[in-house]
Amino acid sequence: MSKKVRVLLVGASFSADLHADAYSRCTDLAEIVAICDKATERIPALAERYGFTGYQAYDDFEKAIDEVDCDVVDVCMPNFLHKAVALKAFEKGRHVISEKPLATTIEDAEEMVAAAEKAGKQLFYAEDWLFAPALNKALSIVKEGGIGEQKYIRARECHNGSHSPFAQTIKFCGGGAMTHLGVHPVCFMLALKDFKWTELTAMTSGGLDKNLIHDKMEGEDWGVVVIKFADGTVATLESNYVTVGGMEDVIDIYGTTGCMHVDLTFSSAINCFSETGLSYTVEKADVKTGWSRPAVDEKFNLGYVGEIRHFMECARDNKEARVGLRGKDGLEALRVINLAYQSSREGRAIKNENLK
Ligand SMILES: NC(=O)c1ccc[n+]([C@@H]2O[C@H](COP(=O)([O-])OP(=O)(O)OC[C@H]3O[C@@H](n4cnc5c(N)ncnc54)[C@H](O)[C@@H]3O)[C@@H](O)[C@H]2O)c1
Repeated sequence: MSKKVRVLLVGASFSADLHADAYSRCTDLAEIVAICDKATERIPALAERYGFTGYQAYDDFEKAIDEVDCDVVDVCMPNFLHKAVALKAFEKGRHVISEKPLATTIEDAEEMVAAAEKAGKQLFYAEDWLFAPALNKALSIVKEGGIGEQKYIRARECHNGSHSPFAQTIKFCGGGAMTHLGVHPVCFMLALKDFKWTELTAMTSGGLDKNLIHDKMEGEDWGVVVIKFADGTVATLESNYVTVGGMEDVIDIYGTTGCMHVDLTFSSAINCFSETGLSYTVEKADVKTGWSRPAVDEKFNLGYVGEIRHFMECARDNKEARVGLRGKDGLEALRVINLAYQSSREGRAIKNENLK
């Protein structure tokens, strides 16, 4: 395919904005040919922010997929709709990008992976951490032996709760903080170790009145999973909705002769004090007065630009995405999160029965 990759963006809200920013930075490779959202007023607003013109607008994803001539359907919809949109897109012979988590259940995620295979199309799984420049720099330091042999990783994504109404019920989102946020450190870690985990043990707050703060949320608002890998590495991966002051994406890497601390969200080169307050500082920060670390090119630094560029190159060449970014990797991340829930419920460690 030498022409540009034609994209139907399904969803025009929060994650669609992250992807739209990325598409606007790879116009050499891709073009947005249509945008669909049932809240139709969000479509021109999104397009205007990123300078998209000549696109078709839809309020119904089935109609959009039926009518739009495109190469890729990019699913930026609530978790429970990922499967329906993906299956419809594969029926039409399109590649699919799915936001995280791949689906709300293992069965749905398996159906999506099988449908891609049957259609002979790619299912791309949007794990942006794998393209975060700071994390990739950290991994290159590990590779050159800068901290010796890597032994322990502690990683977390935490904030004060999703803005999305769909994040409150398990039916719509599949779980709580682990499913929504923990899926980033979990998939990152699995990809780093080529999915060769041996054993995990987890604890979560448990949901509703057992939660630390969010007693109306069905899913847990705090969770931690400890995973051992076949090469002896251990990882502690955490997610919670009890973190105020802005989103924390923090990764600590410990080796035999050194260690590294990576802060994806608060490591801005700017340290600002404002009495009147700023319009924006960092994702999920509610208070913008006083001292803050306003993010510099937040979307790039969280990896979205690299992720979308990679998917566009893969779609152009009909190639599988890198490890960690394939549909089957999203499925495995979801499987590990579900096993973490099981470990927490049953109060026991779980071994990886599928490790070859
Ligand atoms: N990778 C990341 O860092 C990241 C960040 C945020 C969200 N996400 C993921 O992105 C996905 C979307 O999350 P969001 O925060 O953008 O959600 P959101 O609730 O802000 O937006 C969803 C959009 O889908 C539209 N919609 C819902 N049902 C529809 C339907 N049947 N037909 C047409 N439009 C419909 C809504 O009107 C809304 O505009 C989720 O899976 C979420 O987990 C990923």
